Amino acid sequence: MSVHNKAINELTPADYLVIEKEHLLLGRYLNNLRDACACSNSDKLLDSKTCDNEKQSSCLGRLPSFLFHIIELAGMHFNDEETIMLSRPNVIKVYKYFLSHQQAHADIMQKLQAIVDRCLALRSQDSVAEIYIQFHKTLSDLFEEHDLNFDDPFIASTKT
Ligand SMILES: [Fe+2]
Ligand SMILES: [Fe+2]
Repeated sequence: MSVHNKAINELTPADYLVIEKEHLLLGRYLNNLRDACACSNSDKLLDSKTCDNEKQSSCLGRLPSFLFHIIELAGMHFNDEETIMLSRPNVIKVYKYFLSHQQAHADIMQKLQAIVDRCLALRSQDSVAEIYIQFHKTLSDLFEEHDLNFDDPFIASTKT
């Protein structure tokens, strides 16, 4: 990808650790989300009647905190990543790259807000398991696409 730019030199170990740690946190969040709803296991979903009311309301009760936590987590990570990118030597030379990466973060934040609003609105209609499954899939796809297009090339460009 053209965003690879040798003008960005090696990250300091501390910066690299921050990014790595936060990517791990996001990955952990997605795993917790995948396992959060006892009824969202795809085998059980075929017979959603196996999810009793108590389980359903427990999953429903925990949904808002999952929805809002990702906005906080992603917002913090994007800020840190942008600060690290801006602190690179010769950042002016790669400013266009920085701006497009920053714009991609802003787009994700906007999408996250819309997804959260949609999930909250669906709470009274859809099965809670279905909401968890869809939320997990949408988030996973969103972050995977971003990693491929922006974070991976950025990290690779620091290892020249
Ligand atoms: Fe990232
Ligand atoms: Fe990023």
